[in-house]
Amino acid sequence: MTLLIKGGTVVGPVGAIKADVLIDGETITALFAPGTAPEIADTIDATGKYVIPGAVDAHTHMELPFGGTHASDTFDTGTKAAAIGGTTTIIDFAVQKTGEVIQDGLAAWHGKAEGNCHIDYAFHMIMGGVDDESLKAMDYLVANEGISSFKLFMAYPGVFYSDDGQILRAMQKARDNGAMIMMHAENGPAIDVLVKQALERGETDPIHHGLTRPQELEAEATSRAIWLASVAADCPLYIVHLSASKALEQVARARNEGKNVFAETCPQYLYLTLEDQLGAPGFEGAKWVCSTPLRSKHETHRADLWQGLRTNDLSVVSTDHCPFCFKDQKELGRGDFSKIPNGIGSVEHRVDLLYQGVVEGKLSLSRWVETIATTPARMFGLFPRKGVIAPGSDADVVIYDPNGRTRISAETHHMNMDHSAWEGWEIDGKVDTVLSRGEVIASGGEYTGRAGRGRYVKRGLSDYLI
Ligand code: URP
Ligand code: ZN
Ligand code: ZN
Ligand code: ZN
Repeated sequence: MTLLIKGGTVVGPVGAIKADVLIDGETITALFAPGTAPEIADTIDATGKYVIPGAVDAHTHMELPFGGTHASDTFDTGTKAAAIGGTTTIIDFAVQKTGEVIQDGLAAWHGKAEGNCHIDYAFHMIMGGVDDESLKAMDYLVANEGISSFKLFMAYPGVFYSDDGQILRAMQKARDNGAMIMMHAENGPAIDVLVKQALERGETDPIHHGLTRPQELEAEATSRAIWLASVAADCPLYIVHLSASKALEQVARARNEGKNVFAETCPQYLYLTLEDQLGAPGFEGAKWVCSTPLRSKHETHRADLWQGLRTNDLSVVSTDHCPFCFKDQKELGRGDFSKIPNGIGSVEHRVDLLYQGVVEGKLSLSRWVETIATTPARMFGLFPRKGVIAPGSDADVVIYDPNGRTRISAETHHMNMDHSAWEGWEIDGKVDTVLSRGEVIASGGEYTGRAGRGRYVKRGLSDYLI
């Protein structure tokens, strides 16, 4: 069962080389200089194309319960869409609901995913409550369940929220067991005051979701999380879905001081805005309600985030894929923006959307691959099994056609969503062929994978720490 990917340009974080990639079964076994590979009967011609590691989306929410409903992609629909878009591993967030035992929340998440995934998957754990029992469970998950990262929320009081004391305790625990703390950094109690005041003034449209979550409250929470991590003997900290210039400043300052502080951003913050999308006429803007919110086009956020990707103050691009249909789901918040389920779905499009950074001269080819595949794998203990084209790594490979074009639309996407945040976008580049552990699961627009072939991957500790 050997297969040779011939004639392509292999791109990794250290650069691009012309090489043929030999796969034996589920594993990459060798790279050959052009013309030096042995004769193999089974070949894929990648001439004129990039051969990149299958992308790793470190932030998805399949079936997440939120605001009285559930994210509309199941592990079946969501991982199939991911696969078609060149993502071969997701790290989804298992949820400990408040009051629930962590292991029960984890078991429920395995129940949703097992037998349904098209690609390999791993879990982070959302901690819905920090107490003696859940702190002990953190040790257990790191040691036995392959879960080495825990998300806490400074937002959403009464739902996922942890107070500063709880956050500090979880950080101290993570410092001892080697785990990463992932932080939703927005000052929830302050946001709730602004939301209440806005609704009292009759400001109910979707744009007020963004206006009541000013960047100062993201920056303040980011800064507070960084200081709490310092107090916890420099516990490794990863800020999720960073959207704003002032929050990025906090991360950059901590990194300049040599702290193990990292951050991700998401495609929506690199391209979409408060005015043009969230502020769309009538209730239309509900499609773009997510937290942290889209930021103003009149400020420097988008340019600063691209800059952060270049300097590595932003190390990862994830989607925060959390789709809700417009009809029946987003509509729960008609007349009250605070009841609109939060989230945007784009697990299918991250590879293509970030490739526009290369097209527009904002990112190098190798930085593109690093931010969507290699660093997420390293950050979250999947490397070198995932995130790199190297002997011994899983044969998760994407053949990417720089001369192809991709049109994004709800009519053609595979996510279970009745709209697209990127409706009508036509962009350069196209996913040509996707291999997952040596099996071709998508090629030339045809999908040949199947639900249940994806496996749960137990993760180790981050290898990205200083
Ligand atoms: O709007 C978002 N981001 N929804 C998903 C939940 C979260 O906070 O990541
Ligand atoms: Zn439920
Ligand atoms: Zn979040
Ligand atoms: Zn999220």
